Amino acid sequence: MPGTPQEVMIACPFEDLLFGGARGGGKTYGMLGDWLSHADLYGANAYGVFFRKTYPELEQVQEYAQKIFPLVGGVYKGDKRTWIFPNGAKLKMRYLERDSDADRYQGHEYTWMCFEEIVNWASPKPIDKLRACLRSGAGVPCYFRATGNPGGVGHNWVKARYVDPAPARTPFYDEEQKVTRIYIPATLDDNTRLLEADPNYWKRIEASANGDEQLLRAWRYGDWDIVAGGMLDDVFDRTRHIIKGFQIPFSWYVDRTFDWGSSSPFSVIWWAESDGTTAPNGITYPRGTVFAISEWYGWNGKPNEGNKLLAHEIADGIIEREQLGVLKNLIINDGAADTQIWQADPLIGISIADEMAERGVSWLKADKTPGSRKQGWQRLRRFLKAAKQHPMEDAGLFVFDNCTQWIRTVPVLPRYEKDRDDVDPKAEDHAGDATRYRLSYAVQDAGSYETGVPYS
Ligand SMILES: Nc1ncnc2c1ncn2[C@@H]1O[C@H](COP(=O)(O)OP(=O)(O)OP(=O)(O)O)[C@@H](O)[C@H]1O
Ligand SMILES: [Mg+2]
Repeated sequence: MPGTPQEVMIACPFEDLLFGGARGGGKTYGMLGDWLSHADLYGANAYGVFFRKTYPELEQVQEYAQKIFPLVGGVYKGDKRTWIFPNGAKLKMRYLERDSDADRYQGHEYTWMCFEEIVNWASPKPIDKLRACLRSGAGVPCYFRATGNPGGVGHNWVKARYVDPAPARTPFYDEEQKVTRIYIPATLDDNTRLLEADPNYWKRIEASANGDEQLLRAWRYGDWDIVAGGMLDDVFDRTRHIIKGFQIPFSWYVDRTFDWGSSSPFSVIWWAESDGTTAPNGITYPRGTVFAISEWYGWNGKPNEGNKLLAHEIADGIIEREQLGVLKNLIINDGAADTQIWQADPLIGISIADEMAERGVSWLKADKTPGSRKQGWQRLRRFLKAAKQHPMEDAGLFVFDNCTQWIRTVPVLPRYEKDRDDVDPKAEDHAGDATRYRLSYAVQDAGSYETGVPYS
């Protein structure tokens, strides 16, 4: 398909299209143009909705729209946040900040839908819900349009959906969603108008990338092969990693790890490590495969806020929990905990570790050498990847479905903007930390943690 990216995009007959890949490529202008073309063709039967993630972002688009739409007689009805055109076509301007907002559109009917900067949505769930509203009683062909650059929280799912399956400008059929998709890239170099009118545009973009070379490359050339998005979202698969609990065979090694917190949550996770014998669910996992079998998350019900229990209360709670459910009758070994708990409180001269030991709960020191944190995330990625293999060849990691706080917080751990190999230190990473501690040793070949074989 020859032509400028905007021309190709507007002429594109395929139902589902991603436009963009770089900053300043003319994405927003292009999409408003695409809507005008749709409105022109189908008149009163054209009903569109334009989404952005937040209100301030929508305002920006609105500024563009104010410049263009009135030229063809478009009138904006502020109370309805809708553009009305002389031939009866209508375009709603909306933002979709929370995923649950998608539910409010149930039963609506649109012929054209655009998600601007689609990588700002961490998951395709709300978007797919809204796609169901694309239909026309009048038989108008319906179109789904999105724009986006590499590097947002949704980087991985957007790349997997639009960029990886086929070369650019080549339509392909998605069997699962029964739709023909296409990716049409546009870079700043395609936008000669902007290059001429605003030679300093790129300098401003450079400033906003904050010294992140990778992001800059992505924004300049539309390169999707950068490390971005969540730490685990390309390796985690809910249908594979979350499993129904089972009775732990007595020959497996069981222990617990601990990430301390008071005003932020603490996380205790109990683990079982397979020795290669068949599990009660009939599956033989490779020796060394670890399972999060139970958890205790010390939070007050609000994300990243702790319940402020005292050390001895946590110790008592652990002992209590070890008499119940899946943990009952198991030999539970001491596992690793965050080294911070060995620091004595200067006022009372006793550490959290001491206080817990007095109640009968002891810990081993987690690896705190520089680089161990990043190494831990790498290992977690490797274990999750191994668990997705059919058949599995290497030790993997699985989580029993009762570990709801692990499931809530770990799969979505964000990468740190300043160092993409690390998780953002401000994220709710407590269950993630307790998981890293467990993955720093393998016990099956050694019998205990002290002599455990460290994973490389
Ligand atoms: N078809 C066009 N006609 C006239 N000017 C255009 C056209 N397309 C783009 N431009 C100019 O290029 C500028 C950048 O375009 P636009 O904002 O659509 O790019 P973008 O890819 O959405 O950028 P960003 O990545 O910053 O969101 C616009 O402000 C406008 O001045
Ligand atoms: Mg834009």
